[in-house]
Amino acid sequence: MNNKNYDMPIDEFRKHGHELIDWIADYFETVEEKPVLAQINPGDVKSKLPANPPQNGEDLKNVFADLDNIIMPGMTHWNHPNFMSYFNSTASFPAILGDFLSSALNTNAMIWKTGPASTELEEVVINWFRQMLQLPEKFFGIIYDLASVSSMHAIAAAREQAKTNFANFDITKLRLYCSEHAHSSIEKSVITLGLPLEAVVKIKCDDQFRMIPSELDEAIRNDIENNYQPFCVVATVGTTSTTSIDPVDRISQISKKYNLWLHVDAAHAGSAAIVPEVRPILSGVEDADTMVVNPHKWLFVPIDLSVLFTSKPEVIKRAFSIVPEYLKTDEESKVINYMDYGIQLGRKFRSLKLWFLIRYFGVQGLQNIIREHLRLGELFADLIDRHSNFERLAPTPLSTICFRTLPNNKMSEDDLNDFNKNLMDEINNSGKLFLSHTKLNGKFAIRLTISGIRTTEKNVLDAWELIQEKFNSLIKN
Ligand SMILES: Cc1ncc(COP(=O)(O)O)c(C=O)c1O
Repeated sequence: MNNKNYDMPIDEFRKHGHELIDWIADYFETVEEKPVLAQINPGDVKSKLPANPPQNGEDLKNVFADLDNIIMPGMTHWNHPNFMSYFNSTASFPAILGDFLSSALNTNAMIWKTGPASTELEEVVINWFRQMLQLPEKFFGIIYDLASVSSMHAIAAAREQAKTNFANFDITKLRLYCSEHAHSSIEKSVITLGLPLEAVVKIKCDDQFRMIPSELDEAIRNDIENNYQPFCVVATVGTTSTTSIDPVDRISQISKKYNLWLHVDAAHAGSAAIVPEVRPILSGVEDADTMVVNPHKWLFVPIDLSVLFTSKPEVIKRAFSIVPEYLKTDEESKVINYMDYGIQLGRKFRSLKLWFLIRYFGVQGLQNIIREHLRLGELFADLIDRHSNFERLAPTPLSTICFRTLPNNKMSEDDLNDFNKNLMDEINNSGKLFLSHTKLNGKFAIRLTISGIRTTEKNVLDAWELIQEKFNSLIKN
């Protein structure tokens, strides 16, 4: 061995680095020409890759060739402007650069000392984000990877609080309340925390898919009478199926009445509240104990970056802080050691990508993009409403539209469900548009969400054309 280190030579890195940026720019310039949903079969990618690792190093040229020939055809493109399914997560250029940098700097901010800049930038950027959402100053923010993980920590804190609230605390008796439209991550959090799945009590929704507060109150009262231990309520601002918005202010009053932890899941819709006229969707969260918002959903930050806000950071810390000798530091009392606020020790420099994003676009720039998505959502909802063979199956408070087609008035509900599923499959198999679905009151609903940074009015109008074209050809056949 010579005295050089063992890594790739720096000149080679520089060369490949420049090539990679060009590759990424070319990818974005042509992404719209690619099928949005991967048009391959299960196993296609694996079958083209060797099962064993290479014994000797290869030129990265070969890796790039395989990337183009094997990996890319197997990609479903979340960055595609016609990705309108689920809740989109699109990567903006400034945030991609921030993300790239976080891998290069490779800091691990498990404690302040091992990542002072990362720790402090996280504090600053999350404080900016808090202000953008008009949340009170008492809210402390923590970055986790996903909303599922943020909610798990929120519910762990609720369980921690319950230990002091109930003299006869019994984990098998705990009860958590959420609407029947809450995300499955709430149930997963509960089972992860060692509670039985039956601990989750699903509260009925009204005809607009919002939790009914009086049903919540009654369920809690009944459980108390039956010696259960109610400890947490989860309200959803922007449910996964329809983006319905639970009445957080009324739910918050009930949570206070019974001294329950209130967690608000605003994973997707929360980001839209940076637009002042949309802010009322968060009314009542001032009194929440925790709230999760994912900038990686509707704020153009590449996956993953989820923010948990809390007015009770000390309870999360009580639930999670264990400081072994090897992690003790002198400045402990003066700084935030983020390892104290969760199960993970190591932490990536995630705030960089949010910092790059907010500084590049500015708050007003981001508000304008979301405003445009909301306008396009209204436009699409209006197109559905004006067509006699289409119907909307839920209100559209934001930019997610749930609809189905009605080919004629002779079809049974089951046939209608099959027809609409076929229609969605035809659309998705075309590779031109990617939509998802849900079931609402037993009806198969096609879901279209507009939240991608590259999605324009033309994409939405083209989507509408394609949907009608596939509908007409299905009827003919
Ligand atoms: C309301 C809601 N909460 C939580 C999640 C889970 O998000 P993540 O993938 O970040 O865990 C989703 C995902 O779409 C969601 O819609």
